[in-house]
Amino acid sequence: MDFKEQLRSQVDIVQTIGEYVKLKRTGASGRYVGLCPFHQEKTPSFSVNQDRQFFKCFGCGKGGDIFNFLMEIEAVTFFEALKMLAERNGIPLPRRSDHADAESKLRAALLEMHRIAAEMFQSALRSPQGAEARAYLEKRGVSQEMIETFGLGYAEPKGQALVRRLAQEPFSPEELEASRLIARRDDGSHYDFFRGRLMFPIHNESGKVIAFGGRALRDQDNPKYLNSPETPVYRKSSVLYNVHRAREAMRRSNRAILVEGYMDVIGVFAAGIKEVVAPCGTSFTPAQCRILHRLTDGHTVVVNFDPDNAGANAAEKAVQLLLDESLHVRVLALDGELDPDEFIKQRGAAAYVKSLEAAPTYFHWLADRARAKFDMRTSDGRVDAFKFLLPSVQKIGDKLERAAIANDLAGYLGVEQGMVLDQFKKAAAERRAPTPAAADPGPGIPALERMLIQALISSEAARIQTLPHLADEVIGNFAAREIFLALRNAHQSDPKATFSAIEARLSSSARDLLHHIASADESIDDVQAQEQARACLRRIESDFRKRRIDDLRARGKTAEREGRMEEALGIIAEIERLRRELGRAGT
Ligand code: UTP
Ligand code: MN
Repeated sequence: MDFKEQLRSQVDIVQTIGEYVKLKRTGASGRYVGLCPFHQEKTPSFSVNQDRQFFKCFGCGKGGDIFNFLMEIEAVTFFEALKMLAERNGIPLPRRSDHADAESKLRAALLEMHRIAAEMFQSALRSPQGAEARAYLEKRGVSQEMIETFGLGYAEPKGQALVRRLAQEPFSPEELEASRLIARRDDGSHYDFFRGRLMFPIHNESGKVIAFGGRALRDQDNPKYLNSPETPVYRKSSVLYNVHRAREAMRRSNRAILVEGYMDVIGVFAAGIKEVVAPCGTSFTPAQCRILHRLTDGHTVVVNFDPDNAGANAAEKAVQLLLDESLHVRVLALDGELDPDEFIKQRGAAAYVKSLEAAPTYFHWLADRARAKFDMRTSDGRVDAFKFLLPSVQKIGDKLERAAIANDLAGYLGVEQGMVLDQFKKAAAERRAPTPAAADPGPGIPALERMLIQALISSEAARIQTLPHLADEVIGNFAAREIFLALRNAHQSDPKATFSAIEARLSSSARDLLHHIASADESIDDVQAQEQARACLRRIESDFRKRRIDDLRARGKTAEREGRMEEALGIIAEIERLRRELGRAGT
């Protein structure tokens, strides 16, 4: 068994996927379902099969084993997924770790450099040269506990500390530059990218440092925040600050708080609300939206942006994205024009928690914005305000909720009920038909073949009894012939062949098909599987004989017409023999 197989047999796919997706056990043994993390949905079509260790989404078609899952969700290479899984489960990797392709090697080096840099920044903050940064943090009310929790640090101003530190490690010049932690002057000499700044490490979902934000300590220093550029380990659009610490709390509360800045995250977290995240110096993106959808299990996101105009516009955009992802959205606009961090400093954690719990659903906030935008004294203005809000209302998936909210809004804006109905009907008529689900790989495969495959993968005894009877000629006529050949070949080399050994012989389309068949049907026990295989085999053999008889008849007629009587008689005898066989088979 190679290491991949060994690892797969030691880890539980349900437990691993369960760290990303909330899974529920179904009636069938070893089957779990949940909301697919790879596409947007409200009812679960994502299924995980524990016995056979694979997952499959009937909505978007994604499927595969635990490695495919990790590669997709963590956006990593196969080797990284392998390593991740081994590390998480405390299984040592084989000594020879040339288990890495070039890309994985570079990424591993980048992660290591970020780990070293974070450690160095932290110790600089504790050292005498960190005095100014420590004083700044104290002034902002960041406790020692939060400094440690968030791994805050200090980058010294001269710009040589990290260059020197990394020179002690066996990194190549290309790797050093690819990290973007080190920059190069025209004369070829190197210097630290971050200098004289308060450092905020940014982590990926597994808690590895992948980038930094560096805040200026003095007002006159520009920019206020200097952020790591993108690298192979840092894609800004799909990273959320604090996500690895917020994960657990989001799962528990089915809620996320979305704020704008690093300091806001730290302030809210210190107030005891741990499910808080922020984009990292970019606007909020659909990829970040999907992360929140996955971690809150499609529940609630509270948007708590800065109160200025830029913050409100950004909030409006974020709200639309979140609604598109069918999340429940609330908007927290704090009293006194304060951002979350300032509010907590001035009014205390309890006041923040209270405002948070009372945060209204997004449409009340939007309605207030509409009231400010339009002239609410005229009926035209009120109708315009209502029309401005309508697209967001239309995004509410639930029909009853949608109607209730529309009525609510009409009342709030002083718009007639009749007008609400009209607008609704119009919008409903214009609404496009739902997008078709991904192509079902199943159709085109006759039920008989599906049932036989189902039986054969369920029972070794069924394989032993059936496979020898499936002649090449028979298999050659099957729509799913690739799967049958894989089953037969895997069985010939090892009667105890596992599901994954069969999978390994398949092309990716055939593997999809196999997953589809294996998860679509109810599971059957060994005895049922043998019975089902025998029944299928009888049908297949009789179909085969019938086809052969038809064929012979046609040839017999031709022979007769062309006067080859002897041949025609031979054919007739053969047909008779097949008929008798068919009769015996009881069809
Ligand atoms: P803010 O200016 O609101 O920063 O920008 P903040 O986190 O609240 O920090 P303080 O309270 O002013 O110290 C919000 C976010 O926008 C990004 C950062 O991610 C910041 O946290 N930003 C801001 C930048 O990337 N660059 C900048 O120059 C400013
Ligand atoms: Mn701020």
